[in-house]
Amino acid sequence: MTVTIEPITDQLGAVVHGLDLRKPLTPDEVATVDAGMDKYAVLVFHGQDLTDEQQIAFSMNFGEMEGKKGGNIRTEERVNQQINDVSNLDNNNKPFERTDRRRFFNLGNHLWHSDSSFRATPAKYSLLSARSIPSAGGNTEFADMRAAYDALDDAMKAKIDDLVCEHSQIYSRGKLGFTFDDEEIGLMKPVRQSFVRVHPKNGRKSLYLSSHAGRILGWPDPEARLFLLNMLEHGTQRKFVHAHQWQQHDLVIWDNRQTMHRARDYDETQKRDMRRTTVAGEAMTAAQEAA
Ligand code: OGA
Ligand code: MN
Repeated sequence: MTVTIEPITDQLGAVVHGLDLRKPLTPDEVATVDAGMDKYAVLVFHGQDLTDEQQIAFSMNFGEMEGKKGGNIRTEERVNQQINDVSNLDNNNKPFERTDRRRFFNLGNHLWHSDSSFRATPAKYSLLSARSIPSAGGNTEFADMRAAYDALDDAMKAKIDDLVCEHSQIYSRGKLGFTFDDEEIGLMKPVRQSFVRVHPKNGRKSLYLSSHAGRILGWPDPEARLFLLNMLEHGTQRKFVHAHQWQQHDLVIWDNRQTMHRARDYDETQKRDMRRTTVAGEAMTAAQEAA
């Protein structure tokens, strides 16, 4: 089969044709997908009716799987241990009640973010598989952090070049009024991330923004928070955003080093069964605080 990559916009997002992700890929096919990721940062594969095991096997073409510890408050396992359950479903496959704490936690995914920016070594790729989708809404939006960086003037680029932020889920979920118990807080200690990232292969700079970012080292908190809000507003202008409208059995891969994303509203009495595998990053973006 010939693999083709059809751009969605000039810069961000492309649809990949000619691959059956249930089967092992050849090294050439993996290289084609990787090159597509470097260029478009978001790739869409339609018609991929995957099992959890097939999704994991495909994901491992791109690196090690990221561990799940400290990622979610869910304890029960509806899905394979290596999969992040980002559905709205409990263990009986019923949508969460409106007041379910797991639902509140999931609402954090509706804030713009980059996956695992709260880990010292943050994620490389995320792969999200749509097993079932609601009849309307529930898009996932992606924002191009390379374009957002490129659009800044030289004075701003100089100002942000060496900034380091603190990221934690306590900051992102906290914005929604979500509170954590002591044990959870212990797992969610802030980590340090550079504010500007350089892509290891194409050398492009991007803004490493995420709602998990809550402080800037050396800055007063109100000034830092305001700055981060303003940068988030800059980086998510519609000209930098692509909205993915899901079809059942889509698989979408995004590069967390070059993009942010967020989930959009839908009727939560309907099932939205989304499952994510996460490929671990290869390096920290900043030195961590000594323990
Ligand atoms: C995720 C995520 C958004 C969505 O899986 O990391 O943020 O639309 N998902 O479900
Ligand atoms: Mn996410």
